[in-house]
Amino acid sequence: MRAYSGALKRAITSDSCVLDIGAGTGILSLLACQYGARKVYAVEPSSAIVVADEAARANGFGDRIECIQALSTDITLPDKADLIVSDLRGVLPLFKQHIPSIVDARRRLLAPGGKLIPKRDVLWAAIVETAQHYDSLVNPWLRERFELNMERASQIVTNVWERARVTPEQLLTKPHCWLTIDYLTVQSTNVAAEMTFQPTRSGTGHGFVVWFDAVLDDGIEFSNAPGQPELIYGIAFFPWSVPVDLSADDAILIDIRADLVGSDYVWSWQTRVFGKERVRPRAHFSQSTFLGVPLSPCEVRKRGASYQPRLRPDGQVDLHILQLMDGTRSNDNIAKLVAERFPSSFRSWRDALARIADLAAKYGD
Ligand SMILES: C[S@@+](CC[C@H](N)C(=O)[O-])C[C@H]1O[C@@H](n2cnc3c(N)ncnc32)[C@H](O)[C@@H]1O
Repeated sequence: MRAYSGALKRAITSDSCVLDIGAGTGILSLLACQYGARKVYAVEPSSAIVVADEAARANGFGDRIECIQALSTDITLPDKADLIVSDLRGVLPLFKQHIPSIVDARRRLLAPGGKLIPKRDVLWAAIVETAQHYDSLVNPWLRERFELNMERASQIVTNVWERARVTPEQLLTKPHCWLTIDYLTVQSTNVAAEMTFQPTRSGTGHGFVVWFDAVLDDGIEFSNAPGQPELIYGIAFFPWSVPVDLSADDAILIDIRADLVGSDYVWSWQTRVFGKERVRPRAHFSQSTFLGVPLSPCEVRKRGASYQPRLRPDGQVDLHILQLMDGTRSNDNIAKLVAERFPSSFRSWRDALARIADLAAKYGD
């Protein structure tokens, strides 16, 4: 917050029109007003926007902050913004619709020559020795309790990355800078990079860690690097399929990629560990978060382009409810009609009302 506050303070003038994307409860919009912004659009799809609106009025900024409950990608604005401020990251900046949202806002909602906060994020990686984290991930599935074999699940958990706590002493290599996301120019949502590491000491490699440094504006920065005070973002631990003993003569090649598929990223990482002679890799793993989700063939089939779906009985009920939502009936009115029509689906019209309320909240205009 200190960094964001400093960057806003530097960027804002009494003429500034600010767009706060992902305003949440509105703290960045409030700060923008405190630093003198003429107009602030606070945009947030969740109900947290109600708090932002109340906070705007409580702080005397009700006439300058306009709260909009929506995604930035769904709005248009009467004035273009001189400044767009946002924090749509997760543990890493490659998170859900963060990059497409910024690319869209920059193109449609930012005035020519306008500024973005953050300005850029820089991603780092290093090989890590973290037996405790690795064992807690894998060992429960490898231990043959009750004389049963659950090894299959260990292949799933090693294809998932997790937030981790890592100290600088646990790193087996120097950090490698593998990606800079410059928000003023970024176009592609997907990234791919090749990284080479040389251990600085012997140890057991359990995978690698990725973190980012943020530049909100020149000289106004924060870092999530091991050893830095812990922030809300953190460090991502990408495990290897099995731990690998490493020495300073080894070379480790990692191909990493992140592809936005639907609502979030699929991460893939291929690791090759070469000994001193660098001929054939002595360890080689291909991992992906795609393999980290148990996929049922039946569900995958239903998502195929050639699948011809037919509604199940509960789909028929939802279809009927949606058809009754034509603006002439109240929820309880619809509930009574639906409970009568589908008596085996609802014990009473009140049960139907709960289902109707969910659909009304989602699709009601
Ligand atoms: C990490 S929170 C940031 C909250 C707030 N800026 C703060 O500092 O307290 C990110 C918010 O962005 C919202 N969000 C994500 N994508 C968005 C988009 N394209 N337009 C508007 N809001 C978005 C999410 O609903 C979430 O509340």
